[in-house]
Amino acid sequence: MVKKNTCVFISGKGSNLNKIILNSRSYVFPINIKLIISNKKDAGGLKIAKKFSIPYMVVNKKTRYPEKKILNELKKRKISLLLLAGYMRILSKRFIKSFGNTILNIHPSLLPKFKGLDTFKRVLNSKEKKTGCTVHFVNEKLDNGKIVLKKSFYINDKDNIDSIKKKTQTLEYRAFSEAIIKIIK
Ligand code: GRF
Repeated sequence: MVKKNTCVFISGKGSNLNKIILNSRSYVFPINIKLIISNKKDAGGLKIAKKFSIPYMVVNKKTRYPEKKILNELKKRKISLLLLAGYMRILSKRFIKSFGNTILNIHPSLLPKFKGLDTFKRVLNSKEKKTGCTVHFVNEKLDNGKIVLKKSFYINDKDNIDSIKKKTQTLEYRAFSEAIIKIIK
């Protein structure tokens, strides 16, 4: 199997990244993680990059022309799939256009409900019976691209922000990998 060279964008602890790296080690999983990009120099996910000896790049506010630098790096490494796994920075329309339908994002709600930030708090304060996560293609509008798949669970009376977060993220680990397989096959 020819695996797709992939770059994962992160800003936080990188638990999704960790799961995808582990899955990518299987010979039947269709991607290889060739680069990790973080907009935070202290993102926990960078420790995971180091642990697995995967090249990484930090693009913070001080980086000049970050998207140009990113594009060069992606080209150099022949990367054809981008995964946004908790990346908290907006990519420019130009950047998104240049990558077409090859950027996936994971969002911790059942889109189109609860786009944007502070998702768990808004879900808990709502009257929704179910919540979950969504993997979707990225387009120029926030959390708005074509949906690849969703996974859901029922909210119960005892749930709080932490429990909803935990349940959602547990589903995310399966959802992201399944979505990758789905779009490549
Ligand atoms: C995930 O909950 C994802 O849905 C959101 O950011 C979180 C990233 O967590 N966009 P991690 O860095 O993968 O642990």
